[in-house]
Amino acid sequence: MWLTLRRADFRENWNRLLEIIDVPTKIQGAIRDLSQSGKTIGLVPTMGALHEAHASLIRQARQENDIVIVSVFVNPTQFGPSEDFSRYPRAFEEDCQIAEAAGTDIVFAPAASDVYPEGFQTYVSPGDKADRLEGASRPGHFNGVATIVLKLFNLTQPTRAYFGCKDYQQLKIIQQMVKDFDLAIEIVPVPTVREADGLAMSSRNRYLSLPERLAAVCLVLGLRAGQEVWANGERDPRKLQAIVQNIVTAQPLARVDYVAIVDPETLEDAKPSQSSYLIVLAVYIGKTRLIDNVLVEK
Ligand code: PAJ
Repeated sequence: MWLTLRRADFRENWNRLLEIIDVPTKIQGAIRDLSQSGKTIGLVPTMGALHEAHASLIRQARQENDIVIVSVFVNPTQFGPSEDFSRYPRAFEEDCQIAEAAGTDIVFAPAASDVYPEGFQTYVSPGDKADRLEGASRPGHFNGVATIVLKLFNLTQPTRAYFGCKDYQQLKIIQQMVKDFDLAIEIVPVPTVREADGLAMSSRNRYLSLPERLAAVCLVLGLRAGQEVWANGERDPRKLQAIVQNIVTAQPLARVDYVAIVDPETLEDAKPSQSSYLIVLAVYIGKTRLIDNVLVEK
């Protein structure tokens, strides 16, 4: 009896051991075996530097799928030449610990030279949704995002893939790609996870000095002001925009890239008659560029 229990314990722990795969052909082999056994697969694509928000995506994937795969890959094609690719935080061991604790079965962490080998030349070009907001400020960004996400989908064949609402435009572009390319994958949006003061969690928050970290709360203060005036009946997008922008610019360390009131589906400028708006912004705090958004609806 005792021995049987010990064995069962061991097997349970063994089953939960995290597997780390770095070679694309190996993950394809593992996926072939899994899909033959009819298991559902949940994929959480990340660029590593995992934090509590990533963990919440992983936990949800754990609840809804037999197998959970977390990809960790700082994707060079989604960074502009003057952006933070080389200094983007990398913390692989800690990432594996966080991923495992949240219920991951497989971490897929490929090398850039395997993802984009010499001669690689085909990119996904998302449509209108990718031209505005982040797309306008970061030309080519969403081509890189859509390309890597499609590659990850092809390599891991997920039943479901999890994306955070914090990167709302990214979520919408991926949903559009899934529709346009007839991919049989359910895209699961996960609500934005925030720090105690409301700042949306982000790997880039690690760049902030203490005074900048305190100043960064101005993003969510602006969004909350927008929510409040919406709740009080304000429907003029220009007035809402001005209110949010004024709150953010009152913070001396903040420099607004954009504050916009848009249609939550098309991401085009909202019309006064709409029943819901997305309030979305990108703000530099010192040298660090942060984004956030809230949806307001009747
Ligand atoms: P990354 O910034 O690492 O984010 C991975 C996932 O976590 C994304 O779906 C993102 O929206 C989600 N996420 C990050 N912070 C969040 C928060 N505070 N609340 C909820 N979700 C949050 O987004 C990327 O990586 C990359 O563009 C990627 C999709 C992996 C393609 O390279």
